[in-house]
Amino acid sequence: MKQGTFEKRLARHLDELRWLYMELYDNGSMFAELCETMRWYAENRRPVLRRRDDAREQDPGWYKRRNLLGMMLYIDNFAGTLNGVRDKLDYLEEAGVNCLHLMPFLDTVPERSDGGYAVADFRKVRPDLGTMEDLQVLTDACHRRGMNVCMDFVMNHTSSDHEWARRARAGEGEYQSRYFFFADPAIPAAYEKTVPQVFPTTAPGNFTWLPDCGHWVMTTFYPYQWDLNYRNPRVFNEMMYNFLYLANQGMDIIRIDAVPYIWKELGTNCRNLPKVHTIVRMMRMIGEIVCPSVILLGEVVMEPERVVPYFGTVDKPECHLLYNVTTMATTWHTVATGDARLLRLQLDTVAALPKEYVFLNYLRCHDDIGWGLDYPTLHRWGMEEVPHKKYLNAYFLGQVPGSPSRGELYNDDPTTGDARFCGTTASMCGMEIDPRRAVTQDVTLHAMMLFLSGIPMLYSGDEVAQLNDPSYKNDPARAVDSRYLHRGRLPWDRAADRHDAATPAGQVFTGLRQLETTRAGHPAFDASADVWTLDTGTDAVLGVGRWRDGEGLVGLFSFANAAHTVPLPEGCFENLLTGAVMEGAAQLPPFGFLWLKEVADGETL
Ligand code: GLC
Repeated sequence: MKQGTFEKRLARHLDELRWLYMELYDNGSMFAELCETMRWYAENRRPVLRRRDDAREQDPGWYKRRNLLGMMLYIDNFAGTLNGVRDKLDYLEEAGVNCLHLMPFLDTVPERSDGGYAVADFRKVRPDLGTMEDLQVLTDACHRRGMNVCMDFVMNHTSSDHEWARRARAGEGEYQSRYFFFADPAIPAAYEKTVPQVFPTTAPGNFTWLPDCGHWVMTTFYPYQWDLNYRNPRVFNEMMYNFLYLANQGMDIIRIDAVPYIWKELGTNCRNLPKVHTIVRMMRMIGEIVCPSVILLGEVVMEPERVVPYFGTVDKPECHLLYNVTTMATTWHTVATGDARLLRLQLDTVAALPKEYVFLNYLRCHDDIGWGLDYPTLHRWGMEEVPHKKYLNAYFLGQVPGSPSRGELYNDDPTTGDARFCGTTASMCGMEIDPRRAVTQDVTLHAMMLFLSGIPMLYSGDEVAQLNDPSYKNDPARAVDSRYLHRGRLPWDRAADRHDAATPAGQVFTGLRQLETTRAGHPAFDASADVWTLDTGTDAVLGVGRWRDGEGLVGLFSFANAAHTVPLPEGCFENLLTGAVMEGAAQLPPFGFLWLKEVADGETL
């Protein structure tokens, strides 16, 4: 490491970091330990990673470019092991992926795993997937191909099998203080009065009784996921060391899982509390001091007013990237209603944010879809929350006339009527019932997602229109969790059809590739472009404009099972995919889309 580099990076943030740390913990010796350990991790970063740090410090906007394409995948579902993933990098490269999110792979106990989000050891890879050495070999191989690597950092809780949890359970006070342990049932009962439930059906309540040690422990998620107590500076420090250890394995993006939940206060809903932001801001600075090539992706599955604060401010940033969760949910609402008005409003909201804020756009991920929509607006349009959620679920279950969709409910809570939804993109588009329509809609939804600013993140299998996989029902450890419906193994026989234009897999794969390469080739797709929505003359068609450096684009996306003629802004437009030129109006087939580029009269767009 160049002499003085760590000091320079530390000096940039020391005042603010110390200030926030002392405000939270008022503990100078723990702060000194943190700084010393940060230095150790900085000095022990491998030279290849340090070169990445230097290069990205010179190019801090690297993750805002239009040529990034992500894919999230489960190592075992995709290729068995970490080495298996390395053997399949050609496939990922062919799919255009240059940002690989490896779903949780740290050690966990299969029967108490929550898809890997119950970590038993932050420094050990799940043995059936490989080792830390394999991980490093994989990240190096990815980097050589220009591919970034992302992993989850599950910081809200540990598994009940983690060493700290085992020692806490055995009665060691030091370890009990790292969690929320209460002998008096009145305290959990008081929390339950104000804390909502994450998994009302599969894991009701926020506490778990431990009969062997006579305590209640806070478990916001599953009973085997014990919430960490960040009031204890030992927890913060140790978790930061785990974060830096993982960063040093060659990560480029660290996804901070379930981050809104990390601070708890009696009498509140224990979500998005101000101290959460203090902690994320400290993490941001710690990363910038030790491993500046690593960026933070916050998992904040909340309403828009709650999501945006996790970017921090332009001067005091927190996360580099956040999921565009409301746009995702609103997109599926639009599929079910054929009415793009709410999606238009949502895109206007996103477009009004500072361009420094970069979103990760997606259609599907490993989790259920929660119907987090703008209900006050829907109410004005005559749609009420509970009946509307019921309608959306009925639509995607295929119970509404004309709906070819297939999927399953998730955590159906009969008291609130608040069920969420599971299924792959292809199945939700109706691939099992009406493949022709489903392919069109599937590619159109991706075309819309790729038209937005930010990093598009594909869900593995979606590139070949993977269907739902109900086999999880045969596995007792998974059967109650319908999220496994869209966590099936990648069907490699289907992937083998990806060049066969007669198959849905081939049509979707080729369609996406064309969109992704087109996107990478046009400056108006950069996150710095101006974005606005257009009046298309019909609620069934969403229109979006983009403008950057003299390039103007128009995207039209139909949610209607009928052809539409849409008036175009003044000027002459070229279809970016076919080269056809048009003026005045555009013809959209049922569920179709157009990506257009203005070829004359730049100012009039
Ligand atoms: C996040 C993950 C989800 C998991 C939860 C608890 O929301 O995406 O899969 O169940 O955190 O860790």
